[in-house]
Amino acid sequence: MSRRISGFKPTGHLQLGNYVGAIRPVVRGQHEQPTVVFIADLHALTVQHDPALVQARSREVAGLLLAAGVDPGQALLYRQSDVSAHLELHYLLECVASYGEAHRMIQFKEKGGGGGSRLSLLTYPVLMAADILLHDIEEVPVGRDQRQHVELTRDLAERFNERYGPTFTVPRAVHPAVAARIADLADPTRKMGKTNTSTAGVLFLLDPPEVLRRKVMRAVTDTGTEVVYDPQEHPGVANLLDILGALSDRDPADVAGDFRGTGYGRLKSAVADAVIATLEPIQRRYQELGDDDVEQVLADGAERAARHADVTVHRARIALGLTGGRRA
Ligand code: TYM
Repeated sequence: MSRRISGFKPTGHLQLGNYVGAIRPVVRGQHEQPTVVFIADLHALTVQHDPALVQARSREVAGLLLAAGVDPGQALLYRQSDVSAHLELHYLLECVASYGEAHRMIQFKEKGGGGGSRLSLLTYPVLMAADILLHDIEEVPVGRDQRQHVELTRDLAERFNERYGPTFTVPRAVHPAVAARIADLADPTRKMGKTNTSTAGVLFLLDPPEVLRRKVMRAVTDTGTEVVYDPQEHPGVANLLDILGALSDRDPADVAGDFRGTGYGRLKSAVADAVIATLEPIQRRYQELGDDDVEQVLADGAERAARHADVTVHRARIALGLTGGRRA
């Protein structure tokens, strides 16, 4: 039974890509596999941020994870900044990571990493490695956008173990079979993301049904009319089929077969229906959750997470020669 971890950055409202790429795999796997889920609020400080918003969004993310079915009796759910071991291991891992490695990360470049950006944006993947290694994780279910970060985590774990003796479990990335990357509906060459500049093509989990439907119906397709699954030639249509396939647990190419001889309009209606049917019950449960309930879950989770994480940090400290320090 492999241990798994998922992290969610509270930099914006959660969107459908987060749901199919990460939340649903957690919810489905939590009864079979030990699962760690956390709100990556320290990661939200790597770009310009509003403190009040980070706090509010952290709570929103926690509430949505609970509403979507994360069960705190099964999974360990907590807020990253409540467990200081993340920060300590981050620094220890910086001492085995190189500048060149961090600099090569695609996301650093994509987020405009340069001379004026925060140093924490450059070291972001090292903090992510700390998140994963703290918990002796074997599998990291992520969308394809995060694959490179998990590869770096493997490299750092292997290097540390080689240099200083066996200390960390070496994890691997796993991707959902379908829809590892949901694209923006208004620009299918881009990933659907919570911080995309235009929100016209982003389906937020808390968007009202009529907004969801409008966004889907306005999705960019192309001038063709035939519904075929061809991500290269028809990325917009393929993205809609990916979404419908993911939400109905079917292969997107098979789903395309259902729409043979019909236009894009029917496909879009079917996608809108499926998205709304998936999100409405989550939205209902989210409205029912009280702030205090969410905070209590996070506080309990942090306590449990710290117990495990402190043991890992202690192991790393000893391996690195910091033996005079505190005991876990
Ligand atoms: P974040 O907050 O950007 O995204 C959270 C999860 O959602 C997945 N995801 C998607 N999957 C498919 N299609 C999309 N359009 C899409 N958009 C997002 C992401 O792959 C991710 O699994 N760096 C991470 C947070 C993090 C983390 C970690 C994750 C910090 N430490 C340790 C796992 C393990 C991030 O920015 O996720």
